[in-house]
Amino acid sequence: MSRDPVVSVLLDPDRIGDSLVDDVRRGLVAHPRRLPPKWLYDDVGSVLFDRITRLPEYYPFVREHAILAEHAAEIVTASGATTLVELGSGTSEKTRILLDAFTADGQLERFAPVDVSEATLRTAADRIAERYPEVEVAAVVGDFTLHLAHLPRGGRRMVAFLGGTIGNLYQEERRAFLGALADTLEPGDSLLLGTDLVKSADRLIAAYDDSEGVTAEFVLNVLRVLNHELGADFDLDSFAYVPFWDPHMERMDLRVRSEVPQRVSIPGADLVLDLAVGEEIRVEISTKFRVSKIAAELEAAGLSVTRVWTDEDADFALTLATKA
Ligand code: AVJ
Repeated sequence: MSRDPVVSVLLDPDRIGDSLVDDVRRGLVAHPRRLPPKWLYDDVGSVLFDRITRLPEYYPFVREHAILAEHAAEIVTASGATTLVELGSGTSEKTRILLDAFTADGQLERFAPVDVSEATLRTAADRIAERYPEVEVAAVVGDFTLHLAHLPRGGRRMVAFLGGTIGNLYQEERRAFLGALADTLEPGDSLLLGTDLVKSADRLIAAYDDSEGVTAEFVLNVLRVLNHELGADFDLDSFAYVPFWDPHMERMDLRVRSEVPQRVSIPGADLVLDLAVGEEIRVEISTKFRVSKIAAELEAAGLSVTRVWTDEDADFALTLATKA
């Protein structure tokens, strides 16, 4: 008998609106101007991201998938977890590999996917509940940067944070995030962290500047989100997508650039922007890591590295770290 998934909503739609307004007011007057990447994922953005994961140039998805496929059983055993929490779970597609390994082993009692998108989460939770009837599904609609203290408690937990999404955070934000996560974990609980690794600039740029232009569309879509949510009048055709590799910070820096001098009004944020030709807005960073740096950041947060798995070409890493 499969039980109905329980969905707890920690984000209310008004608060989401407020935080967009705050982010726009703060970010668009900063230097360089910037917007947080979480606003990329409206319905259109989520579909575009899904297309990105299937682009031949976008290696992180397939590499992480391969590592999971090869090592899921070891990950399950090493974690000893009875609850799997997944942050930013989206459609929980890759999680299935973990869930299969967990259920083959019979040790999993509960799956707790956490995502900001309630619709995505409900669909995924229903599918998972149907496929794994023995597993209790406790979904949380929340923002993993805000709601870590509300993760389901009890049992031995493994928190999976996959896809390389931690690379979206700045170093200070990573420190705060890992520290807050470590604080909510009990001794023996663990984090399974997916990180993209430093590699040649050519391959990195190709992965973020695909020949079909899907990534460009994905990044420019954030302006459409502002048009839709805040009544802004961004003309997408007057912006170019500008991705570059920052070798000093070891991160991809994804921006949009105003191709003409223009005035943009954003009534919902009570803001008017005058943009010069060539002026840029950073929409996302995607930090690339070295295994030693991942370990150092985890250890600094009080999580000790149990194991690291990489693919054959060392393109991507999965690190299991345990709270002492
Ligand atoms: C979902 C944050 C892991 O940084 O590679 C892909 C997002 N942006 N192409 C990444 C993304 C442009 C992706 N993450």
